[in-house]
Order: sequence, then structure tokens, then C-alpha cells
Amino acid sequence: MHSDILLETDDVAISDFQSHDSTIRQIHKGIHDLEKLGQMPFLEVSHQHEHIQDILTLVEQKKQDFDTLLVLGIGGSALGTRFLIESLAYKNLSRFVLCDHVDPDSWHLLQETLDFKKTLIVVVSKSGRTIETLAAFVYFQNILKQRVADYQKHFLIITDPREGILRKLAQEEGFASLEVPSGVGGRYSVLTSVGLFPAAFLNVDIQTLLLGGKRMIERCQHADPWTNLALLSALIHWEHAKKGRKMRAMFPYGERLKSFAPWFAQLWAESLGKKYSLKGDVIHTGTTALCNLGPADQHSQLQLYLEGPDDKVVTFIGVENPQCRIHLPETPLVTNGIPLRNLSISALQSAERQATEQALSDVGRPHQTILLRHVDPYTVGQLILMAELETVYSGALYDINPFDQPAVELIKKNIPNFI
Ligand code: PA5
Repeated sequence: MHSDILLETDDVAISDFQSHDSTIRQIHKGIHDLEKLGQMPFLEVSHQHEHIQDILTLVEQKKQDFDTLLVLGIGGSALGTRFLIESLAYKNLSRFVLCDHVDPDSWHLLQETLDFKKTLIVVVSKSGRTIETLAAFVYFQNILKQRVADYQKHFLIITDPREGILRKLAQEEGFASLEVPSGVGGRYSVLTSVGLFPAAFLNVDIQTLLLGGKRMIERCQHADPWTNLALLSALIHWEHAKKGRKMRAMFPYGERLKSFAPWFAQLWAESLGKKYSLKGDVIHTGTTALCNLGPADQHSQLQLYLEGPDDKVVTFIGVENPQCRIHLPETPLVTNGIPLRNLSISALQSAERQATEQALSDVGRPHQTILLRHVDPYTVGQLILMAELETVYSGALYDINPFDQPAVELIKKNIPNFI
């Protein structure tokens, strides 16, 4: 039985948005008009059935020879995949290695420890020319050439349909390949072949994942923030930013959701941190997404969030029903008035979150909570689309282009000057 994710907030009242009614309708219409014109390709992924079939066919083929994935990619070509695997394929984590770095010690360790006979190397780069990914590709290609016959079989390239060095290499060397649909940038690409191939390879039901994404798009069809979760959250953060709360903390509770925060932080930062408005005015806009994890950060960042500057909005993510139920055994231990005997660990996890929410409310610090009944493909698909849509709505509120990243490109151009 599929369940919808919920957004709980007591932070805003209907009256807060009434003065912006026409702006809200305008930005909502602008975005959904673009969607109808096919200019929001990341919203179309759930309809691309032929791509899904290509992915599933290749997964079945590759599973016959390989059991482990080594994914080479960085930024938007890595973070979403990590989140999908950690949240939905957490039981298969030992069969997933992500190399999104250029750390010689770690590369060396990988070449010493991986069983390359059973490892499929998935090279992911939308542009097909990112140096970190290409360097890792060259390194592991050389190792494979020495250690296995038919080394080409051990590679899968995921890149632009036409452009870039990787597409050319795939054609020349005969590597298997999949496409990142044109117009879908790295940070919006998790529900394309970029995240879907690795997820399906590790037994995630990607059809249901996409159904979850589609469901969130349907839930965000109306300009009414009280039914459109992504729009509501965008407006809440926009209002707070105007009052000086220019940081937003993403605070999941649960190890399976831990890597949602860095994926989201990259999406938010690269999409909204912009110098120019759409009109070309210099505005230096954007707010900072912080990565937290409960309950560990209750014993760390919460001191700052409760007593430090009032410059943040916290988004908790709670899970109502973890897959496993654990109750503590018979014990005489009692701490802080709580007997540990028979204690439910999921109840403890929820209590930790609720206690933190209460502490923030008590000192008037804003927060909201996204509730997932279960961590499953359907809810994770919704969570991803909610975050992407919220980011695009926020781009419209700030009057910037949420799909480019000129400053990141600048660093890529600078690298040759230092080699
Ligand atoms: O989100 C983005 O667009 C970036 O973070 C890219 O994903 C990152 O720079 C890697 O680029 P590419 O996928 O072209 O290798």
C-alpha cells in the first residue's frame, strides 16, 4: 500500500501568504506552462517508459556477470545515486562503491580491495568531460586492462546522448552506454539513468520510485500552497530569508536518510546561489543548506541552533515505521526516568525528534517536519520531486535561473592553471 509523505508546519498562517497571492499564482503558472511546453525535462522522467525498459534490460544483462558496482562521478552525478542506494538498497551497501574524489590513497585501496572480475564500473558524467571522473576512468581502465579479459564489458558509460569525450569513447571502444536526457542537469538527474541504473542493479523497484515522483508532481499541480507541499516549503523559506534567516538545516532522523541532506544541499546551493537575476541585475542571492543528522546532532549543532543567532529554519525528516522493530530486552536500567526494559527503538527515535522540535518551538525558532510513513521507493520518489520542485519554485521567487551553475564552471576552467 503506497503512502503519501506529509509536511507538518505550525510556522505559518494563511494570512502570511495572502499579500503575495498574485506572485504565487504567477510563479506557479510560469513553471507549469514551461512543463507543458516540455521545458522542464526533469519533470518528464517518470513518463519515459522506453528509457526504463532499456535500463532494466541492461541491468538484467549485467547482473549475469557482476555483483558489485563501482560508480565514478561527482556532484550531481554522484550524490543522488548515493542517496538512492543508502535509503533503498541499504541491505546491499557492501556491493556499492562510490568514487567521487581524487584521493590517491583511496584509489589505491580500491584497486587493492575490489574484486574486479565481479565489478561493473559505471562512469557517470552529463558533460562527459569532468576531469575528476575522466581521471578515475583512465586509472581504473588501465587496471582492468591488466586484470581481466574483455575489459570493455566491465564498463557502463552514462552521459549526454551526443556531446562529450565519454560519448565518443563509448562509441569508439564499444562500451555499453545509457543517456542522461538532454536538458536534465546533474543535480536534477537522480531519477534518470544516472540513479536508476545503480538502484535497479541493487534491486530497488525503480518503477515504484518513479510512480512516487509522478505522484508528487500531481500533488503540486495547484497554486494553493496548502495543497502544494513544494510551493508551501519554498514560500516558508523565502519569507524567513527576508527576515534574515538565510540558513536552512536539513535534519533527517535515520541512517537510511542521512545522504538526503548532502544531495539536497548541492541541489539548493548550485541552483539558488546566483549573482544575477533573470533581468541581469547583480543580486548575490541564495540561502545556505546545512547537513544534519538526528539524533547525533542533538549532541552537537543543537546548542547553536537553540541559543546562537536566530538565522536558521530547520527541516526535520521523520520516519513513522522503520522496517525493523527492535525492543530492548529485560534490564533493570533506568535513565532520566525512562526504564530501558522493553523500550522500542523506533519510539525512542521519534521521541528524540519530537523533543528537538519542542525545544525549538519553546524558544521561537522555526522548523517544519516532513513525515514518511515508510522509507520505500514511493516515498523516496516523492521526497526527491518535492525537493526539486521546491528548488525550482524558489528560483522563481528569487527571480534567478535555477538550472545553470556558472561559478562551478569557472572552477573547472581554473584547474588547468594549477596542474
Ligand atoms: O549538478 C551539476 O550540474 C554539477 O554538480 C555536475 O553534476 C558536476 O559538476 C559534474 O558534472 P558532470 O556530470 O558533467 O560530470
